[in-house]
Amino acid sequence: MPAIDRYAVVGNPVGHSLSPRIHAAFAAQTREALNYDAIELPTDGFVDGIRDLQRQGFSGANVTVPFKREAWELCDSLSKPAEQAGAVNTLSFDGSDRIAGDNTDGIGLVRDLDENLGVELAASNILVLGAGGAVRGVLGPLLEQSPASLTIANRTPEKAAALARDFAGQGNVSALAFDALAGQDFDLVINGTAAGLGNEVPAIPGSVINQTTMCYDMMYSIEKPTAFVDWALSHGAAGAFDGLGMLVEQAAAAFEIWRGVKPDSAVVIQSLRPE
Ligand code: ATR
Repeated sequence: MPAIDRYAVVGNPVGHSLSPRIHAAFAAQTREALNYDAIELPTDGFVDGIRDLQRQGFSGANVTVPFKREAWELCDSLSKPAEQAGAVNTLSFDGSDRIAGDNTDGIGLVRDLDENLGVELAASNILVLGAGGAVRGVLGPLLEQSPASLTIANRTPEKAAALARDFAGQGNVSALAFDALAGQDFDLVINGTAAGLGNEVPAIPGSVINQTTMCYDMMYSIEKPTAFVDWALSHGAAGAFDGLGMLVEQAAAAFEIWRGVKPDSAVVIQSLRPE
C-alpha cells in the first residue's frame, strides 16, 4: 500500500496552530487520505527543516510566522499572488528537490469577506491599516476585486507610501498618515497591523467609522473579541469580524492547490467557534 500523503504547517511557534484541525476536517469532509502535522522549526533552521521534509517524502507544507519571506526566497517557482506578496504560505513538493510556492492569504481574506460575510468589495472604498508583510500579502487580491479606492494607512507613514507606490499600477491606491484619516469615509476598514498582539488598536480617529462601515481584523481570537473588533463596534460600525474565516479560507485554498478539491469552509469556521 502506498504511504499516506503527508503535509505540515511549519513555524515558530506553531503549538497553538489551528491548521492541523482545519486540514483534518477538510480531509474527512472530502474523503482525501492525508496526514497534517504542526512542526516547529528553529528560527535559524527553516531551509534545513524544509529540505528534511522533502527527503522524508512530504507532499507539501504551509508556512507561518516567521518564515514566509524565507519560504519565498527558497522557492523555484512562484504563483502570481506569491510573487507579488513577497511571501509564501503554501509549498508544494513533487518528489524532486524543486519547490513551488503560493500565497493564499489574500484569496483567503477576499473569500471570507465576499462569500462568508457578504461584504461587497467591487466599487467600495477600502481602508487598510498597516504596511508590513501581512498587508503586502493581501493587497493584490483585494485590488483584483476592483474597489473604487484603497487607502493604506500606517503608524510609520513612509512604509504606507512605499507600499502604495508598489501597487499603484493595479488600482486606485493611495497612502495616508493615521491623523490624516479624520473626515474620510470608508465602506470597509481592514486591520492588518500587529497592534492586536499587544491588545492594542491602531491610533486612528474613530470618525473613520460610520454606521455603514464594515470592519475586519486579520487577527482572530476564539475566546473573546479582538481589541480591534471591540473598538469598531464601540464606534458604531455596521459589523466587525475577526480573521478566523480568513485563516480557514487560506487553508481551504492551500488544500485545493494540493488536492484539487475545494472543501466546504463554512462548516469548519462554524465548528471552530464556541457556541
Ligand atoms: P506582519 O508580518 O504581521 O505584517 P510586520 O511586517 O512587522 O509584521 O508589520 C507590522 C505592522 O503592524 C506594521 O505596519 C506596524 O506599524 P509600523 O510600520 O509603524 O511599525 C504595525 N503595528 C505594530 N504595532 C502597532 C501598534 N501598536 N499600532 C499601530 N500599528 C502597529
